[in-house]
Amino acid sequence: MKTKIGKYLVSVLVVVAVTGCSGAPQPHLDGEALLKTKCAGCHNLDMPPKTYKDEKAPPMMAVAFHVKDFMKVDSPSDKKPKFIDFFKDYVLHPDAKKSFCDKESLASYGLMPSQEGKVTKAEVGAIAEYVFDHYDQNAFMKLMKEQARFDALPKGEQIATKNGCLTCHGKTKRKAAPAFTAIAKKSPAEIKKVILNGSKGRWKGFERMTMPAFKGRISEARIDTLIDWMQHGLHVSH
Ligand code: HEC
Ligand code: HEC
Repeated sequence: MKTKIGKYLVSVLVVVAVTGCSGAPQPHLDGEALLKTKCAGCHNLDMPPKTYKDEKAPPMMAVAFHVKDFMKVDSPSDKKPKFIDFFKDYVLHPDAKKSFCDKESLASYGLMPSQEGKVTKAEVGAIAEYVFDHYDQNAFMKLMKEQARFDALPKGEQIATKNGCLTCHGKTKRKAAPAFTAIAKKSPAEIKKVILNGSKGRWKGFERMTMPAFKGRISEARIDTLIDWMQHGLHVSH
């Protein structure tokens, strides 16, 4: 009992020390969460960004890439601290003269309103650090390549991938669930019924796993496309 209370007191003291008075170490700020609550009202955060007709501000990815490209640094290691400093200054004191935005975009969006009072300098620092790391050109190129690979897949396989079918089913090999090529021998109507309603215990060797029901989660038209791919797109001889 005594030790429990002792432990409790220690943890209270630690919390006070961390969050208490200024001068004490700052609590960790979650840059990603702050970006979402403080900046997403105007900036689109997707990578790659979807662009909207009447967007209020450039997408955050565009901002990050732009600032990284145009910022002058003496050595690559200066880039991140300078990026963070620019954010800390610009978000609280926006100014057309400081902006890396081209004149045309600046005119169409209008200058960013100062966020003073809505976000603290320390919070902007945490946001900037996250933005610098997250909107990374190499990560973006990788994403684009993955997207291109996905776009090149047959429509039915895209639907299967997006809905997680292939985490349980192999296309040609049995995994946690029977292979699609083995399932494909059944009639389209039978297959469709199972996809809509789920199933359990029908396949030998998979009794402990459940096939979830997808009714309402995938449109019937998409299920038909999926089945067509399963039966004609997997290029296996039956
Ligand atoms: C009310 C809308 C609004 C909000 C909220 C907002 N911004 Fe902006 N922001 C803009 C607009 C508009 C621009 C483009 C014009 C400009 O550069 O001033 C912009 C541009 C920027 C730039 C680019 C400056 C440059 O020179 O390219 C940065 C950096 C930026 N915003 C960071 C942030 C961060 C971080 C937050 C959240 C703390 C935030 N913004 C919240 C509207 C907003
Ligand atoms: C959580 C794992 C899991 C996921 C995700 C999953 N399945 Fe299944 N699926 C199974 C299992 C296990 C079975 C075998 C069920 C049985 O034995 O009754 C199965 C069986 C099937 C069958 C054949 C049933 C029969 O009786 O012949 C079809 C068709 C099927 N799944 C399609 C799909 C499709 C399409 C998706 C994605 C939309 C999907 N599954 C997602 C686990 C899964």
